[in-house]
Amino acid sequence: MKIAIFGVSGFLGTKLKEEFEKEDHRICGGDLNKDLKFKVDATNSKKVSRFLNKEKPDFIIDTIGLTSSLECEKDPKRALLLNYKTAKNIALWANKMNIPLVFMSSSYVFDGLGGDYSEEDSPKPLNEYGKTKVMAEKEVLKLKKGIVIRVDIMYGFNGFDKPNGVFQKILKNEEIEINHPEQIRQPVFVDDLPKIILNLVKNERGIFNIAGPDKVSMINFMRLLEGAVRDKTLIRETSKKDLVEIPKNSTLSISKINLLGLKTTSLRQAINSIKNQINSE
Ligand SMILES: NC(=O)c1ccc[n+]([C@@H]2O[C@H](COP(=O)([O-])OP(=O)(O)OC[C@H]3O[C@@H](n4cnc5c(N)ncnc54)[C@H](OP(=O)(O)O)[C@@H]3O)[C@@H](O)[C@H]2O)c1
Repeated sequence: MKIAIFGVSGFLGTKLKEEFEKEDHRICGGDLNKDLKFKVDATNSKKVSRFLNKEKPDFIIDTIGLTSSLECEKDPKRALLLNYKTAKNIALWANKMNIPLVFMSSSYVFDGLGGDYSEEDSPKPLNEYGKTKVMAEKEVLKLKKGIVIRVDIMYGFNGFDKPNGVFQKILKNEEIEINHPEQIRQPVFVDDLPKIILNLVKNERGIFNIAGPDKVSMINFMRLLEGAVRDKTLIRETSKKDLVEIPKNSTLSISKINLLGLKTTSLRQAINSIKNQINSE
């Protein structure tokens, strides 16, 4: 299959490309990165159209995002542009070409008062990041072949010289401050995403939560990740004044994907895999 990945050189995009290529799928990437063969600014609808018409992919995965809640709060216009406008542009052309579009959303579409959110629960975002994700979801869900994937926090290792999401600072031996140590999270191993996405694209449409089987506080999650690379902790709990409101409990029910026979990796197993991946670098 030929797969277009928007945001192909980001954290998730890098993993998707690597895993899909192992299975002999052809990848065309849309990104801002100048080194890429296909540079596409998805804020520009004409450029998206030109790219897709030339490449004619079988389906599209949109991983573009302004992922920092704080950045979104500081610059709501940029949040709207990168989280909503890009998705709207891509959805328009996916619809015209009548091909599936997978859009990456977030558990931050919820207010976090309850947790364990199902695909049926109504979004109630607390911040600009969540609000712009909800707007984008609506564009994708209008499509006959739209798939919205909600994840809480993704983690994993792409290689020292590649983007590694939340793991990056740990790998660089940098100090990390955690302002909401008690926040309840449900991390998902990024290596689980390629297989699950391919499965969903075959037959499924609509919203799907993808999360690991373990719920854990933010501080314990970060310490577990840190334990994969060092003994001494460089993580500190802080209680700085909040500049952005975030959900206290951003956990997701995964019974819908489990009923489809799709399972995710436990934190313990994933950390062992990450250790092996790092050792074989
Ligand atoms: N990481 C998480 O834990 C997490 C949790 C919940 C939801 N999500 C969602 O999952 C998706 C993937 O996350 P991620 O961590 O892989 O993000 P990421 O590493 O920041 O990757 C985003 C990619 O989008 C590209 N991009 C930005 N603006 C663009 C534009 N105008 N046109 C084309 N490409 C553009 C970026 O390219 P440049 O680098 O060249 O700017 C980057 O490659 C995002 O939508 C995010 O909101 C992530």
